[in-house]
Amino acid sequence: MPPVENPTFPSEFLWGVSTSAFQIEGATGEGGRGQSIWDTFTETEGKIARAEHAKVAADHFHRYSEDIALMAELGVGAYRMSFAWPRIQPDGDGKPNAEGLAFYDELLDEVCAAGIAPTGTLFHWDLPQALEDKGGWLSRDTAERFGEYAAIVGERFSDRVKMWIPLNEPMVMSIFGYAIGEYAPGKTLLLDALPTAHYQNLAHGLAVQALRAAGARSVGTANNHSPIWPATDSPEDKAAGEWIDALINRTYADPVLLGRYPEQVVAHLPAGFADDLPTIAQPLDFYGVNYYEPQGVAAPGEGNPLPFELRAIEGYPMTTNDSPIVPHGLRDLLVGFHERYREHLPPVYITENGCSFDDVVAEDGHVHDQERIDFLDSHLVAVREAMDAGVDVRGYFVWSLMDNFEWSKGYQPRFGLVHIDYETQKRTPKDSFGWYRKLIRHE
Ligand code: NOJ
Repeated sequence: MPPVENPTFPSEFLWGVSTSAFQIEGATGEGGRGQSIWDTFTETEGKIARAEHAKVAADHFHRYSEDIALMAELGVGAYRMSFAWPRIQPDGDGKPNAEGLAFYDELLDEVCAAGIAPTGTLFHWDLPQALEDKGGWLSRDTAERFGEYAAIVGERFSDRVKMWIPLNEPMVMSIFGYAIGEYAPGKTLLLDALPTAHYQNLAHGLAVQALRAAGARSVGTANNHSPIWPATDSPEDKAAGEWIDALINRTYADPVLLGRYPEQVVAHLPAGFADDLPTIAQPLDFYGVNYYEPQGVAAPGEGNPLPFELRAIEGYPMTTNDSPIVPHGLRDLLVGFHERYREHLPPVYITENGCSFDDVVAEDGHVHDQERIDFLDSHLVAVREAMDAGVDVRGYFVWSLMDNFEWSKGYQPRFGLVHIDYETQKRTPKDSFGWYRKLIRHE
C-alpha cells in the first residue's frame, strides 16, 4: 500500500478505541456471571479454531486498570466497551446481579477518572443462554427482555456513559449466528433467520426508549456496513447486488432511519412486523458505522436456493482475517449513506475500523506493525474525503484497543493497537499505538 499523509481533522473530532466484553474480559465463571451463547458455542467441538475459548481472553476483568492506563497514555477521548448481559442478568431476566453492576461501576469510574468518555454497547453478541433456550432472537420475548435490561443498565450508568449503542452489528448476529451458523448460536436457517433481524431491530427501539427514559443523553446504533460490488454490470448481477444490499445493509438501516424494510425481505419477516416500525424508528443522536470491507456478489448459479451468490473481492492486499484492504470503500459507503438517507441520517461516527496482521514482538521488544499504520492512515484519508464531500462524520474508533478473541477464528487474528501475550498477559503497545497517539495529540 502506498504511504499516505495523515489527514487533518477538526479539533472537536472524537478519537476512540473499541472493545467488547466477551472478547477481552475472561473471568466467565466469576462475579456471578451467567452462561452466554458464546460460552456454549466455544464449548462445542469444532466451532472455534484450535478449540480456543474465552475463559481468560485478555483477562481484562482483572487487568482493566492497566488497560485504562494504556488508553490514558494513548490520549483517546472515548472508549467504546460493551456490557456483558449475562454479568448483569445471568439468565437475561429479572433482578440484576449486584456483583456484575459493581464491576462496571468500578470500570466506568476509572475510565471517567482518566478523562475518557465511555461509549457503552449493551449487546455485543453474548446473549444469555437461558434466553436462547427460549428461542433467542427468533423470539419476540427476547426483544422485550432486552428493553428491561436496557432500563437497568441505563438507570445505573447513564451518569457516566456519554454515548449509547443498544446492539452491535445485528446483521452479523442474524447472518453468522442464525443464517449460516458460523457464530453462536450456530443455527443454519438461511432466509428463515430474518425474524432475528426484526426482533433485534425491535430490541433496538425498545432500548432507545428505555435508555432515554433513564436519562441517557446520546443514543445511536452501530452496524457493520459494506459497499456492494456486483461482479458485472449485467441486470442479473445487479439484482443480486440489490438483494445482498437489502440483506446486509438496508434491513438494519432502513427501518431505523426510514421506518420501513427493503421490499426484498418483507415476505420473510414475522406477521404484524409493520406495527413495530414506529418503535424501531426512534430518532437517533448518531449513527455508528463499522467498516471492514466491500462485499462482492453475483447472480446465483444453478441449484443455489438463494437469490445471490457471494464473491470474494480480488486484486487487493489482504489482512490475516481474509479481508481485502479497500480504503476507498469506506469513503464510498459514507457518501452513499449520505445520499440515501439525507436528512434522516444523524451525525456519523466510525464505531469500528481496523485490521488483523501476524503481529509479533521483535527482538528489540517492539511490535513493528507498519501494515496497520498504513491501513488506519489510508482509511482516515477516506473518512476525510467523505467529510469533504459533505458527510457529517464526528469521530473514529479503532478496532481494537488490544488483541482479543476473534470469535470463531480464536486468538490468531490480532486486531489490537496493543499486543497481548496470552501466556503471560503482558501488554506491549505496538508501533501503531505510538502512531495513533501522535495523530490524536497533533504531535
Ligand atoms: C466487528 C465486531 O463488532 C467485532 O466484535 C469483531 O472483532 C470485529 N468486527 C473484527 O472482525
